[in-house]
Amino acid sequence: MIALCGLAAILLLLGTLGWMQRATIAVWLAPEKIAAAETAGQSKRANDRFWDALHGGRYEELPGVIEALTAAYLENPRDAETAAHIAFSHVWFASERSRLDRVPATMTEHIALARRYFAEAVRLAPTDERFKGFLASMELAEAKIHGDEKLLRRGYFNLMASVDGWPEFNLFTAGYVLSGLPFTDPMYAEAVEYQWRNIDVCVGEKFDRRGGDATKYLALETTTGPKRACWNSWIAPHNFEGFFLNLGDMLVKQGDAATARRVYAYAKLSKTYAQWPFRSVLEGRIAQAEENIALFRDPKPGERTRTLMAHSAFSCMVCHQQ
Ligand code: HEC
Repeated sequence: MIALCGLAAILLLLGTLGWMQRATIAVWLAPEKIAAAETAGQSKRANDRFWDALHGGRYEELPGVIEALTAAYLENPRDAETAAHIAFSHVWFASERSRLDRVPATMTEHIALARRYFAEAVRLAPTDERFKGFLASMELAEAKIHGDEKLLRRGYFNLMASVDGWPEFNLFTAGYVLSGLPFTDPMYAEAVEYQWRNIDVCVGEKFDRRGGDATKYLALETTTGPKRACWNSWIAPHNFEGFFLNLGDMLVKQGDAATARRVYAYAKLSKTYAQWPFRSVLEGRIAQAEENIALFRDPKPGERTRTLMAHSAFSCMVCHQQ
C-alpha cells in the first residue's frame, strides 16, 4: 500500500478543518511520483518485444505486447519507458485500425488508454518532448470522441507547446494530427505549413514551398541531438521517406499535385530507399497524384492504401518498419 499511514497521520493533524481544505492540503502534501528506470528482467523482455513488433510491422502481435508491457508496469509503475511504450502500443493499435476487417466502436478505448499512459510517461520523463507531443495528440483525439470543445483547445495549445519544445520532431506530429481536417479548413493550410517549417528547422533556412533542390542538404544527416529527428535512425529506420510521403499526401489533398510529385520524389534521396517496404506505395502516389485529390479529400472508411497517410493501414509503419 502506498503511504496510506502517512495519509492517516495528515488527516488526524488536519482534523479541525473542513473536508475540502483537508483534501487540498493532503493531496498537496502527497509525495511526488518519481521515475525509477527498470532495465532488467520482465520489463526488458516486454520492451524488447515491443521494438521487435514495431520494427517487424507485426500489428497482430499488439495484444500480447500490451499484455506483457502492462504486466511489467504493474511490477514497476515508475518506469517511464514502459509507460510510454504501453501508450505507443495503444496509439499504434488505433492508428492502423483499417488493417482490421471490422473496426469496433470500442476502438476508442485505445485512445483513452494511450492518453492515460502518455500522461504518466510525461510525469515520469518531463523533459521528453516526444511524449508531450503524443499526449497532446491524444487529447485532441479524445476531445473529438467526446465532443469536448474545452479539451480540444487545451490539446491544441499543448501541441503548440510541444512544438516549441522540440520543433524538429513535433512540427511533424502537429501537422500529421491535423492532416485529417477538411482541406477547406484554415487550420488545414496551417498543418501543411508545419510540415514545410519542419524542413526549415531541419536545414536551417527557408525551404522553397514549391519544392526546391534538396540534395544540397543531405550532408547535414545526423543521428544525435534534436536534429536526429530529421533523419533515419534505429528507432525510425525510414523516417525520411515517411515524412515526404506524408507531405506529398497533404499537398495532394490541398490540390497541388505538381508540387506533391516533387516532394514525393525526395523520399528517393534516402540511402535506404531500396530497402523501404513502402516503395510501391510511393510510386503509386506519384503516378496517381491527380486522381488521388478527390480520394484524399473524401476518404472512404476502410480504405487501407489509397487514402491520406494518416488514415492508412501503415500510418506508423511507413517510418518504423525495417
Ligand atoms: C514521419 C515518420 C514517423 C511516423 C509516421 C511515426 N513516427 Fe514514431 N518516431 C519518428 C521519429 C523520427 C522518432 C524519434 C526518434 C528519436 O527519438 O530519435 C519517433 C519515435 C517513436 C517512438 C520511440 C519512443 C522511444 O521510446 O524512444 C515510438 C515508440 C514511436 N515513434 C511510435 C510511433 C507510432 C505508434 C506511430 C503511429 C501513430 C508513429 N511512431 C509514427 C518518426 C515517425
